Amino acid sequence: MTAPEQEASGLTRVMDLHGFRFPLGTETLGVSRQPRERRPGTLNLKSCELQHPWSDRLVRDELAALTLRDTIAYPFQDRVLDTLCAYHGLESTNILLTAGSDNGIGLVVDALVRPVGRLLLQEPAFEAWRHYAALRRVRVTGVPGVIGTPPVADPNPLLDALRDAPGPSVAAVTNPGSPSGLLFSPSTMRRFAETARALGHLLVIDEAYGDFVHVSHAPLVAEFPNVVVVHSYSKAFALAGLRIAALLGHPDLCEHIGRFRSENAVGAPGVALLERLAPQRERWREIWRDVRAIRRDFVDRILAAHPEWRVLQPGANFATFWSPDPAIADAARDHLAAHHVRIRSLSGVPGLCGCFRVSLADRPQMRRVARLLDSVTDRPSARRNGLTVEEGPAR
Ligand SMILES: Cc1ncc(COP(=O)(O)O)c(C=O)c1O
Repeated sequence: MTAPEQEASGLTRVMDLHGFRFPLGTETLGVSRQPRERRPGTLNLKSCELQHPWSDRLVRDELAALTLRDTIAYPFQDRVLDTLCAYHGLESTNILLTAGSDNGIGLVVDALVRPVGRLLLQEPAFEAWRHYAALRRVRVTGVPGVIGTPPVADPNPLLDALRDAPGPSVAAVTNPGSPSGLLFSPSTMRRFAETARALGHLLVIDEAYGDFVHVSHAPLVAEFPNVVVVHSYSKAFALAGLRIAALLGHPDLCEHIGRFRSENAVGAPGVALLERLAPQRERWREIWRDVRAIRRDFVDRILAAHPEWRVLQPGANFATFWSPDPAIADAARDHLAAHHVRIRSLSGVPGLCGCFRVSLADRPQMRRVARLLDSVTDRPSARRNGLTVEEGPAR
């Protein structure tokens, strides 16, 4: 293969595939492909799948009850939509299944952002937003969603960006935030929705971790025609491997997005399992309550050993810690990696310098991780910087 030639328009480059020449789009040049890597013997506390003994049992039991037809036949969605209507308090015309919210975000970019060409992205956010925007050659205006040390949620830059946008735009917010774990209050979310509606913008809310902290934005969908919610079932229902999520929105928006045929990418086992799991709300609530208790014990243990650190509240099935010593995030990651535990350092994430995120597993594992973190200490020169609060003041 020789070096590709770029065409004058810059939209394609001719690739030479062992003598076979063919033009490929240049939009992939700005993004990378990162297939998941197996790491045997490593405890993954990086990607926030739900890891809890009760959800393991619940999903295993329901999985065992699936029938052969749930795999060999194309899925029907009527029954799962009925259960999701009850779960979200919406009509079936408000709900569109997607192959995970990663795919849902891609669809939002394709169907809603690309035509207007403008995405106001409150950051930090899930990396899929910038990835799909780059593939669609959409301009992204990054808007800070956190401020200060330790970081607190800041609604003002997004409110300003909504007011300053020169034309109809799509604004994306993650609540509760990931990887920050910070939360905007219901009144702030309503203010985003109202401001966006008044100025002709769509507001897309990624609530991948909402269930862990009693947060649902579905009521905003019922009230605001300009609000779309991306709801993942990966985290709260422990279904990350099945790749299933929903977009919740006005029926006309769902109809429009549905023409991109997202539902055809959703497999029958995922549909069948979701249909069985979504009605079991009380059992899930018990599990999420216990996840919060595990988090509390873990956080208390860590902060007792490191009184100068802070935790960003309320988190979800993860805890994000901040240290006044910016070197701690990488040090914690590296120390745990040496003991076969993977976490995420956020030292390179704008607004989250000094932070690292640990997703939660069961109590014995978290006690072990807390013990390992005992030996990660701030440099003597790093000083305490302030206290956490849940949200910065709205202007
Ligand atoms: C904020 C956020 N949104 C979306 C996703 C993707 O979820 P899904 O498994 O539904 O694609 C993640 C996964 O880590 C996430 O953290």
